[in-house]
Amino acid sequence: MKELQERIIRDGKVLSASVLKVDAFLNHQVDPQLTMNIGKRFAELFADEKVTKVVTIEASGIHFALATSFALGVPFIYAKKKKAVTLTEEVYSAPVHSFTRQETYQISVSKQYLQAEDRVLIVDDFLATGAALVGLTQIVKDAGAHLVGIGAVIEKSFQEGRGLLEKEGIRIESLARIESMSPEHIHFIEPAAT
Ligand code: G4P
Ligand code: NA
Ligand code: NA
Repeated sequence: MKELQERIIRDGKVLSASVLKVDAFLNHQVDPQLTMNIGKRFAELFADEKVTKVVTIEASGIHFALATSFALGVPFIYAKKKKAVTLTEEVYSAPVHSFTRQETYQISVSKQYLQAEDRVLIVDDFLATGAALVGLTQIVKDAGAHLVGIGAVIEKSFQEGRGLLEKEGIRIESLARIESMSPEHIHFIEPAAT
């Protein structure tokens, strides 16, 4: 997605060999127009899949799930990272290992909102190690629902996430695929036409 790639080049900051800071427009301050366009793009890419639910994980996936589900005309669910006191009903849960924080946490989704009949599109801000996304796919599987694919806003293709998920036969659509990056240069895999 050209608009996104240009924005990453303009306002993204490469903090280290593996960390891209996009706080200016994507996951702290948020550009609503760009966010809505990203949602439209995911909706177009998965238009033929009869998606019934969009699923993401709190916090940075939520606005992209909103934009995508709005464009598709279906609800979205965000998996919770902490078991809330109000989340008393039965839940599907999966462990996620955070490599940045070196800890494992549980993510959960109420069984009420995810059914075997559902056709699920997972979206998230980053596809990196894939840890969070693997956890989400586990939850979709446990619900017996059909996973139509994953939409990632930014993919760091030099990390293992895509390989891990493709091995499971999952369709992945990333709107900006970073092959390599340094403070001076960000190289995308395929210059997006649209
Ligand atoms: P993932 O590939 O499934 O996203 O899992 P990973 O464990 O690799 O990523 C851990 C967290 O770090 C995720 O956020 C992910 O979005 C974020 N992340 C990974 N790489 C980058 C990066 O280069 N830049 C930025 N800004 N974030 C990155 P999270 O723990 O789910 O937290 P939240 O921000 O969504 O609340
Ligand atoms: Na995230
Ligand atoms: Na994040």
